[in-house]
Amino acid sequence: MEVWTIQKLLNWITEYLTRQTVDSPRLSAELLLCHVLGFQRIELYTLYDHVVQQPQLGRLHELVKRAGQHEPIGYLVGRCEFYSLPLKVTPDCLIPRPETELLVEKAIDFLRGIKDPSSMLDLCTGSGCIAAAVAKNCKEIRVVATDISEAALAVAAENIKKHDLEKQVTLLCGDLFDPIVAGLDRSPFDLIVSNPPYVSDAEYEKLAPNVKDHEPKTALCGGKDGLDFCRRIVEKCGDFLKSDGALMLEIGFSQGPAVRNQLEETGLFTEIAILQDAARHDRIVVGRR
Ligand SMILES: C[S@@+](CC[C@H](N)C(=O)[O-])C[C@H]1O[C@@H](n2cnc3c(N)ncnc32)[C@H](O)[C@@H]1O
Repeated sequence: MEVWTIQKLLNWITEYLTRQTVDSPRLSAELLLCHVLGFQRIELYTLYDHVVQQPQLGRLHELVKRAGQHEPIGYLVGRCEFYSLPLKVTPDCLIPRPETELLVEKAIDFLRGIKDPSSMLDLCTGSGCIAAAVAKNCKEIRVVATDISEAALAVAAENIKKHDLEKQVTLLCGDLFDPIVAGLDRSPFDLIVSNPPYVSDAEYEKLAPNVKDHEPKTALCGGKDGLDFCRRIVEKCGDFLKSDGALMLEIGFSQGPAVRNQLEETGLFTEIAILQDAARHDRIVVGRR
């Protein structure tokens, strides 16, 4: 009978996923192995000669096959890392992207740079990744996070609980600002952030299969030009933002000029900037009042 050590499995899975054109095949192989064996990544290398046996081999085989069919690794292992926080993910929510960490970084910088910051609103929170990362790094901030999907909010609730942030973060279900009654049960926010659905109809058709066939369409599609949600957020944000507050939105790489126009048209902001991600794509629009 063939003996499968960790070393041999890592090499075999990496080669298989490479042939199937899966992104980051070595990392994917490591994550699948860690998940099945209950190991940390470092242990794969300190226990290179460890022999893996049934039933773990069978479980691994099934997951590798699904990964080869472009099911996202995050969903297969049920977790991901975002801004150094381990988070639960399920097919009910988008898998947080590294680009969104830039939004978190700018949100934290802004909140740390103003006098007596107290509150942030995260619209379209999904897994709760942005809300959790900002709350974890700005202990004095109260965060309200909304999403239209109850299933996504159930995942967010687990993440907020896992990181002991229940006193700081309130999750509300509904359409954008609808669950919040401005001036009645909430005072205005220092900061409003959102990574809304922003994929245009045409772009959606061309998305990679690991995204299009597995991630929720409601988390991705922003209408014909992808900007339906940005437009609605920009139009209404004035009712929910302090007079010296800021709005930060994640956008698609070609949407910067259009969203800048939207912000300019409100006449609310004295400073508007478009920030680029590590790949030098326009990624975040920031408006400061
Ligand atoms: C691009 S995902 C972002 C999720 C998360 N914030 C992140 O950065 O990974 C967009 C989210 O918007 C939510 N959504 C879609 N339509 C919405 C609406 N009308 N009101 C509130 N949330 C909505 C989806 O359920 C999804 O969780």
